[in-house]
Amino acid sequence: MEKKLYYKINTYGCQMNVHESEKIAGMLEDMGYTSCDDEKDADIIVFNTCAIRDGAETKVLGNIGATKKLKKLKPDLIIAVCGCMTQQKARADLIKEKYPQVSIVFGTHNLSEFQNYLLRYKKDKKKIFELWDKTEQINEHVPLYRTSGYNAWVNIMYGCNNFCTYCIVPYVRGREISRNFDDIICEVKELVSEGYATITLLGQNVNSYGNDIDDKNITFANLLKELDKIEGDYVLKFMTSHPKDLSCEVIDVIANSKHISHTIHLPVQSGNNRILKLMNRRYTIEHYKSLIDAIKQKISDAKITTDIIVGFPTETEEEFMDTYNLVKDVGYSGVFAFMYSPRAGTPASKMEGQIDDKTKHDRVNRLLKLSRQIIQNQSKTYVGNRYKALCTEKKGTNTICTLDCGKSVIVENSDIKPGKFYNILVNKLEKNMLYGTVCKD
Ligand code: 5AD
Ligand code: SF4
Repeated sequence: MEKKLYYKINTYGCQMNVHESEKIAGMLEDMGYTSCDDEKDADIIVFNTCAIRDGAETKVLGNIGATKKLKKLKPDLIIAVCGCMTQQKARADLIKEKYPQVSIVFGTHNLSEFQNYLLRYKKDKKKIFELWDKTEQINEHVPLYRTSGYNAWVNIMYGCNNFCTYCIVPYVRGREISRNFDDIICEVKELVSEGYATITLLGQNVNSYGNDIDDKNITFANLLKELDKIEGDYVLKFMTSHPKDLSCEVIDVIANSKHISHTIHLPVQSGNNRILKLMNRRYTIEHYKSLIDAIKQKISDAKITTDIIVGFPTETEEEFMDTYNLVKDVGYSGVFAFMYSPRAGTPASKMEGQIDDKTKHDRVNRLLKLSRQIIQNQSKTYVGNRYKALCTEKKGTNTICTLDCGKSVIVENSDIKPGKFYNILVNKLEKNMLYGTVCKD
């Protein structure tokens, strides 16, 4: 009998990477490998890396370094590194020089070649370091092994054209390429029929979907409209939106839809116009607020979440307070706040007036504390209301249901089934946890 082969994928960073690891897993499963939890059991370990902040790179390099011992104990172990970090040539070179245990390195544009690289390496045992500088063509035929439970990720586009001055993404993911409209519809139809409860459309800036396609009818609004027509019990989500491109038409489509989530992630990054300009965000805070007003007016139960960067070069205390006050005014249901991290090759990393770490820590902590308070206060407003919620987990005699905004509600002593939607009446808030009962009708 042939020896069973095991793989372990370590994923860092955003949902795009999580989904790309499902493609890596798909290719490995296709070659007869089986997933394992412990690196010690693995015949191949893949690091799917992130480069968005310095911390992400330091962490991954430390973890790759730790595989040296494993490789010594098991010389046939294959270690592969891919993703946004390796797409930067300097990082790929560093791995080549300082991490001799690594056998295969590739980037973001040649992910679909992984199976070929692995076969080649197994045949002639020669190390492979291959980076492409752009995606030639989207490969629709990569096997997929989905690992995100009741949620299915669906790419609608790749890359980013925006060049926010702090961001490495356009350099490591290249220019925007949209997937074929009909291919997306087909994939989502299939996923709904397979019983996935949530479908999340992925793109660095989903609102520019179709801008690179000649047909003027291929737009994000039309894609959402068409997807919403698919029959079934599911919720459609998407990320990420850019405030300069989120149109009133898209807000209307969401408001009038049957399946599209009312929780909208709209990264603001800063509440101050001077900083937004330096960031090259290409909208003003007035425009951003007008979008929030339009969302709240057209979608009465809308929840809004955001990303914020504090300590961008030259940001003063007053300018930070503009962000702080914006968070208070909007009443976000989720704030992902980050300390600015200079990325080599981006304009902001060369700007004068870099802010010291202590100030950045202080600002991020104040912002997170405020956002926690706001979210805690919001919790009370759920009590007494009915929500459609997805049953996600059984924990003893309790069942956990997740609301559209991501909040959990505990349902006691119920026989409801994970993976299905139920109408839940939230009836109490205790120790910061919401409790509810299933409505029979
Ligand atoms: N430093 C800190 N945060 C960053 N982000 C992107 N680039 C950086 C950086 N250099 C944040 C932005 C983005 C989120 C995914 O990561 O807020 O929306
Ligand atoms: Fe980065 Fe800006 Fe593109 Fe988002 S829109 S990926 S923050 S460059």
